[in-house]
Amino acid sequence: MNDRVIIFDTTLRDGEQAPGFSMTTEEKLQMAQQLARLGVDVIEAGFAVASKGDFEAINRIAREVKGPVICSLARALEKDIEVAAKALAPAERKRIHTFIATSEIHMKYKLRMEPEEVLERAKKAVAFARRFTDDVEFSCEDATRSDREFLYRIIEEVIKEGATTINIPDTVGYAIPEEFGKLIEDIINNVPNIDKVVLSVHCHDDLGLAVANSLTAVKHGARQVECTINGIGERAGNAALEEIVMALRVRRDFFGDLHTNINTKELYKTSRLLCRITGSFVPPNKAIVGDNAFAHESGIHQHGVLSHRLTYEIMNPEDVGFPASRRIVLGKHSGRHALKKKLEEYGVNYSEKDIERIYEKLKELADKKKEIYEEDIEALIYQEFLKVEDEEPVKVLHFQVQSGENLMPTATVKVIFKGEERTATATGNGPVDATIKALQKALGINPKLLDYSIKALTPNTDAQAEARVILELEDVRASGRGVDTDIIKASVKAFVDALNRAILRREYILQRKEIRREGTV
Ligand code: KIV
Ligand code: ZN
Repeated sequence: MNDRVIIFDTTLRDGEQAPGFSMTTEEKLQMAQQLARLGVDVIEAGFAVASKGDFEAINRIAREVKGPVICSLARALEKDIEVAAKALAPAERKRIHTFIATSEIHMKYKLRMEPEEVLERAKKAVAFARRFTDDVEFSCEDATRSDREFLYRIIEEVIKEGATTINIPDTVGYAIPEEFGKLIEDIINNVPNIDKVVLSVHCHDDLGLAVANSLTAVKHGARQVECTINGIGERAGNAALEEIVMALRVRRDFFGDLHTNINTKELYKTSRLLCRITGSFVPPNKAIVGDNAFAHESGIHQHGVLSHRLTYEIMNPEDVGFPASRRIVLGKHSGRHALKKKLEEYGVNYSEKDIERIYEKLKELADKKKEIYEEDIEALIYQEFLKVEDEEPVKVLHFQVQSGENLMPTATVKVIFKGEERTATATGNGPVDATIKALQKALGINPKLLDYSIKALTPNTDAQAEARVILELEDVRASGRGVDTDIIKASVKAFVDALNRAILRREYILQRKEIRREGTV
């Protein structure tokens, strides 16, 4: 059996479906370019029929991203498959991923179909998809709660129709590793033509077992893992790509020759790019990419690591691209050459004009703070190069705040909203509160603030502050971030960033709801 494990990334499809993670076409394109640098084998770029936005994003990724196979999800319906094929047309290598539910509960209550009808629909869908590409994946949605005999039968039949990958999703995150491993083994032993395809798994994390289930499946014969960066995805998320890849690599003694094609040094950068793009963040204790993943706080641990790194470290931080923290990278007088090198490290395509623009910003920043750190450069690069937003609905033109001992914090803001200039003044429980209240008054909208946090990116009181905001606007949740040496400015940027995302996403999500109503993932 081949020892290569195919990494199928679904950050842009299953991941993006989760509340607070939807992305614009430009953002998806940036993410896809980074996934290609990371070395994933397949990028599931979206669900073409779900919305105009999904179609456009898949189409642009298919046109512009070279290397990985580009894939679109499609229900087992001709209309979905046709739209997926159209979106994927420009790709050098394309895959159509069609699916239908196979569990009794899904067939009876969601699809309202008899098993025989489901079987016929699946066969037809695969045969139809083969007209457009010879790379067709079929998923038995809710496989882990499906009747075994029916599962074996449908898999055998769709392989006969030309499916090249068979995916076994644990759609509701119900499986336990030992049981899931056995399911994979049973499929291998009971489906006579299974050797003609790649067997894949797609695990959700509702019981916190998605990575464990995926790894057990690989150990029992699966050779494709569907996963997402930072484990984002529906509900509790999907299996985290970085954890699967590093487990296979660090525990070669257990997994033998099983390996992936991932350039692990790109893992940290990819995780951070996703956070920047979606305005989300990973918990500090998140495996592989969390801020504390390689931090040794206790004296005993520090002593051990200093004496011999392997006493408490099972992997090298550099192997996952974890930056040597708090390293000064550019000073006020550092040249354009150093800046270019940094941009290349981040995989950014730039022109000489871009260099001049960002160099000026860098000088402005260096005037405000003595030392520029890795984190400052990263923030600037994302702000200047990687954050290509759609037309922003809200723009802040100006704000002013008064605050101090025995003073009621008062803020005045001037914004443009729906093409109209608006001004408002408000008082609050501190300067940030006053400014946010003034903004809400000017805009005439009152989103529910779910979370707000602020932290210094680097040491010293002249550090840039990073503010994060999560808010909800009419059921649409969005997160935003803002970086500035001024903490109020950072907070305003984060609030407006989240608000703009929420406003832009509403329309997009409404389109998707239409599709969901027809009965889909
Ligand atoms: O979780 C699931 O079952 C899915 C399928 C569409 C693969 O996302
Ligand atoms: Zn899923």
